[in-house]
Amino acid sequence: MKLSTSEIRLFPVVLVLFFSIATASDIINTNKSLRDSETLVSNDKRFKFGFFSPETSTDRYVGVMFNIQSPTVVWVANREKPLQDSSGRATISDDGNLVILDSQNESIWSSNISPAVRNSTVQLRDTGNLVLQDSSNGRVLWESFRDPSDSFLQSMKLGVDKSTNMTNLLKSWISPSDPSVGSFSAGIQPETVPQIFIRKNGKPHWRSGPWNKQVFIGVPDMTSFYLNGFDLVNDNKGTAYVSFLYANQAELAYFTLNSTGFLQQKYLNPSKNDWEVTWEFPATECDFYGKCGPFGSCDPRSSPICSCLKGFKPKNEEEWAKGNWSRGCIRNAMLESERNNSNLEQGKHDWFLKLQSMKVPDSAIWVPFADEDCHKGCLRNISCIAYSNHIGIGCMHWEGNLLDVQKFSTAGADLFLRLSYFELDQKREYKVVIAIIVPVGSIILVIIGYISYKYLAKRRGRNRKSELLLRETLPNYYKENMVTEEINQAKFEELLVYNFDILANATEGFHLSSKLGQGGFGPVYKGKLPDGQQIAVKRLSQSSGQGLAEFMNEVVVISKLQHRNLVRLFGCCIERGEKMLVYEYMPKRSLDAYLFGSQQQEEEFLDWSKRVIIIEGIGRGLLYLHRDSRLRIIHRDLKASNILLDEQLNPKISDFGMARIFAGNQNQANTSRVVGTYGYMAPEYAMEGRFSEKSDVYSFGVLLLEVISGRRNTSFHQDDGALSLLAYAWKCWNGNKIVELVDPKITDVQLEKEILRCVHVGLLCVQEYAEDRPNVSMVLSMLTREIDDLPSPKQPAFTTRPSLSKKESQGSVNNVTITIIGGR
Ligand SMILES: *[C@@H]1O[C@H](CO)[C@@H](O)[C@H](O)[C@H]1NC(C)=O
Ligand SMILES: *[C@@H]1O[C@H](CO)[C@@H](O)[C@H](O)[C@H]1NC(C)=O
Ligand SMILES: *[C@@H]1O[C@H](CO)[C@@H](O)[C@H](O)[C@H]1NC(C)=O
Ligand SMILES: *[C@@H]1O[C@H](CO)[C@@H](O)[C@H](O)[C@H]1NC(C)=O
Ligand SMILES: *[C@@H]1O[C@H](CO)[C@@H](O)[C@H](O)[C@H]1NC(C)=O
Ligand SMILES: *[C@@H]1O[C@H](CO)[C@@H](O)[C@H](O)[C@H]1NC(C)=O
Ligand SMILES: *[C@@H]1O[C@H](CO)[C@@H](O)[C@H](O)[C@H]1NC(C)=O
Ligand SMILES: *[C@@H]1O[C@H](CO)[C@@H](O)[C@H](O)[C@H]1NC(C)=O
Repeated sequence: MKLSTSEIRLFPVVLVLFFSIATASDIINTNKSLRDSETLVSNDKRFKFGFFSPETSTDRYVGVMFNIQSPTVVWVANREKPLQDSSGRATISDDGNLVILDSQNESIWSSNISPAVRNSTVQLRDTGNLVLQDSSNGRVLWESFRDPSDSFLQSMKLGVDKSTNMTNLLKSWISPSDPSVGSFSAGIQPETVPQIFIRKNGKPHWRSGPWNKQVFIGVPDMTSFYLNGFDLVNDNKGTAYVSFLYANQAELAYFTLNSTGFLQQKYLNPSKNDWEVTWEFPATECDFYGKCGPFGSCDPRSSPICSCLKGFKPKNEEEWAKGNWSRGCIRNAMLESERNNSNLEQGKHDWFLKLQSMKVPDSAIWVPFADEDCHKGCLRNISCIAYSNHIGIGCMHWEGNLLDVQKFSTAGADLFLRLSYFELDQKREYKVVIAIIVPVGSIILVIIGYISYKYLAKRRGRNRKSELLLRETLPNYYKENMVTEEINQAKFEELLVYNFDILANATEGFHLSSKLGQGGFGPVYKGKLPDGQQIAVKRLSQSSGQGLAEFMNEVVVISKLQHRNLVRLFGCCIERGEKMLVYEYMPKRSLDAYLFGSQQQEEEFLDWSKRVIIIEGIGRGLLYLHRDSRLRIIHRDLKASNILLDEQLNPKISDFGMARIFAGNQNQANTSRVVGTYGYMAPEYAMEGRFSEKSDVYSFGVLLLEVISGRRNTSFHQDDGALSLLAYAWKCWNGNKIVELVDPKITDVQLEKEILRCVHVGLLCVQEYAEDRPNVSMVLSMLTREIDDLPSPKQPAFTTRPSLSKKESQGSVNNVTITIIGGR
């Protein structure tokens, strides 16, 4: 559904109407039933329960839907028995059940609980769960989350929970106009290696592959990005279910099984006000279960998509050639155990062929073997024809037919396939090639080995793969930025490269409960290393747009810096397509929470003296960046949320993803790619991409005024009589009413002079023209009264009219243009 602009503008109004029409309460009880024209709305207004007709149908159904402009149904009560008119009612029957009555007061649907309960109520919870409970003791008698329709919502469980006798399955509608149970279902069965299955009339239609505690390994592009908060519980005793909880729980997103058998993740794009499919399976021809038959392997990128596994040939060449792959493949040569042992063949043993990046076959048998034993155990057991040993899952064996195998381009698992000695011919050919490659390779290896030895001697136990990647990337990075000699390798090599699994364990598999927040480039998790060290892990989302360039930038820049007002970087991790940064953990989080956020409670209130310490600390950190460190660094994204606080509330500047290093004599640079945060960006940077120390000073000035006023620069609206905090501050300054600008919680009038001085400095920093602004060392001197006589500020930027920059100043400016290749 597409909306025109005018409709979108109307949207808030329509929403308000919705809410006011709706019944005030979110419950139904014995005395109160719900008629066709009424709805029950959840407390947070996200869901509603009421009557609806599916598209192109006039039948009336009762269900739970997202409470948006065109309500999206997620659960239906009377799926099989529609009401013919609008005289239906939902009410509590005498025996305490939730029932739906037709015009004749006949019950067409009931929650079917027994024994009877005298006094029960129905409530629509904020999660979208419709709950029937005993009002005398609050016991839950029935809930819609235990009888799903086709939709899987946050905090719902899908699968089997033995402890509560729950078996939850999504069941598709017959068609978009008929919610009756269709032919597709989706769910998870308790097995030693549980997988999500879509079934068609009970037969497998698609499967997810096993869960490795982070992703389903049969879903190649199921990156961590989609999986925030996804969890699979499996106790191997009859309980296996999945559930999910988004980091941002207010986000409207859910999974649904559509009537033609596609499992989709949908999210409400607020700007379009329409659902977008962000994830969908089956995605390719190969995803359809068993596409290539037993021992066939499917690869969507090749043509034809089906081929036999190595050592196998089509069972029926003719059918196979025609593209009818259902019969699959058979072995070329018998395995050891299948042969009649004649003398000739004795001692000719089976071997295993390694297939990489595979969707492992269905029906894995999980065995409690560790590493090497997985291979040996399979070799010993004559019925074992393949194995895989995967991190997060363990050892899997297969017997019988290998079904639903796929070849992926990335991810997947290594599958070891048992083959006969007679398939070794191929191996011999390899041997010839190897015979040539090995000597040549060895020489190269020796050389590489010698070079690496010198490196690695110093840094045992670190992750080699990541290191190599870093080394490969670094030189290019330096070239692009023309600061080659400024960065010496030695410092970089002191940086610790962490192993992915260590970080995954430290953060409990990047679990939602470990999440500290969401930075511009991805979530940040709290973690604890095995030695007890607390860390913060910034996990750059793949969709973040922070490319390798920015990543390397931050790693290199910050690893070189040490100052008490800068956050310390411990190390990084580049592995499995992930990029992560490991910082010291800041227990008090970021400044914005204290200034504007919910944490602004009594005990956490920042009094004036703490604010002064924070302001000066930030100033000193910035001075170090600009002047004192060997490199000159422009931060470019200074803002309240990038200031972290330690236990004693000392400020530390963080987030160097956009920082730029200046060569010694360089004062200003241009970029074609303006990155930063509106409200904090100096006019010449926001509009012309010119950045310098002075653009950081501008951001510092905005931050200073925010600290004084306790208000965000962007929290102003036209009706405040000012466009922004800067405009407001300017107004107060000129009207001699600085008191109005100051955070009302700061009540000490004695401080007036000192606060006035800070406002004065703040206004000097945010002046429109970069040349007029003081540099950081002057700012600090002004704040500490080393400079007592302050010039009067000129009008700040962005106060009234669109900003224009003064003509390029006369002095010759080294105007180097830096362009990042492959930008957004
Ligand atoms: C329903 O109404 C009856 C009589 O008016 C009253 O006794 C009873 O408490 C009410 N029940 C509820 C749940 O409000
Ligand atoms: C159905 O029940 C309601 C309330 O109990 C009553 O007012 C109405 O007359 C009944 N309708 C029929 C057709 O029996
Ligand atoms: C039913 O529960 C409500 C709320 O707890 C209570 O006010 C009412 O008296 C109860 N009614 C009966 C019949 O128990
Ligand atoms: C589950 O069902 C079994 C048999 O139907 C019953 O004995 C048991 O009490 C039930 N458990 C729960 C938690 O409801
Ligand atoms: C289900 O989703 C698939 C894939 O997006 C789409 O092609 C199909 O039309 C959908 N089915 C219905 C009934 O909308
Ligand atoms: C493919 O082969 C199977 C088994 O031989 C047969 O039943 C089926 O009809 C064939 N399908 C087509 C499209 O030829
Ligand atoms: C192995 O021996 C059995 C009978 O002992 C015979 O039926 C079978 O065909 C033989 N298989 C081979 C491959 O020779
Ligand atoms: C191996 O052998 C045991 C019995 O000896 C059997 O239960 C198991 O399923 C076999 N297969 C695999 C693949 O381990």
